[in-house]
Amino acid sequence: MAVTIKSEREIELMREAGKILADVHNQLGELIAPGITTLEIDRKGEELIRKAGCIPSFKGYEGYPASICVSVNDEVVHGIPSKKHRLFEGDIVSLDAGVIYKDYQSDAARTYGVGKISPESQKLIDVTKESFFRGIEFARAGNHLHDISVAIQKHVESNGFSVVRDLVGHGIGKDMHEEPQIPNYKPIGRGIRLCAGMTLAIEPMVNAGGYEIWILEDDWTVVTRDGSNSAHYENTILVTDGDPEILSLI
Ligand code: MF3
Ligand code: CO
Repeated sequence: MAVTIKSEREIELMREAGKILADVHNQLGELIAPGITTLEIDRKGEELIRKAGCIPSFKGYEGYPASICVSVNDEVVHGIPSKKHRLFEGDIVSLDAGVIYKDYQSDAARTYGVGKISPESQKLIDVTKESFFRGIEFARAGNHLHDISVAIQKHVESNGFSVVRDLVGHGIGKDMHEEPQIPNYKPIGRGIRLCAGMTLAIEPMVNAGGYEIWILEDDWTVVTRDGSNSAHYENTILVTDGDPEILSLI
């Protein structure tokens, strides 16, 4: 399927989905503290999503068993919540969540420190988030898709970290994953030309060490190969004729 341009009505629904998701993330962020289990975060997330009249898009997606991906330390993405996994002081934890509101999707991720964390971990979290904002500066009609990718990669690598290659951002709308794929590093070519009305999930995944990853035996959890920490930051955005609009942030 080709890249879709959303109508004003579709954009309105995606704005609503995004606001709900942003609010869910803000509330989950308040829960992050030593002692909470990753399953408790998932349960609360699902409850908030359903209370807001949305469906958690991750639950059952290709068999994924939870509503919130909770990925701790060297887990890059797609960590599976568990009642056996408690957060400890000094951990970093990425929460990735998706909602469907009246058939339209929003997808966003945040990374938090648990209690007091090391300066290196804080830098990893900050650089990951900053790289998203560097990237979306280029999410403007007339630019090329990979302008976003290059800006993300430059910011990450100039800070001594690396961007995961095997996972990418994506278009989003009625489906969670639409075209185009959005790498966080420079691929071959410039990518498609961006147009107003495109909605994109831009999601840098940044490793403190090398960019290589493994997938664990559960077939979901993505971890860094070298055991270094990893952070993730994602928002669903709208390309306009002017400044990009971040739909999943309030
Ligand atoms: N947020 C992820 C993405 O952008 C999707 C999570 S995978 C799922 O692709 F299985 F949990 F849904
Ligand atoms: Co995504």
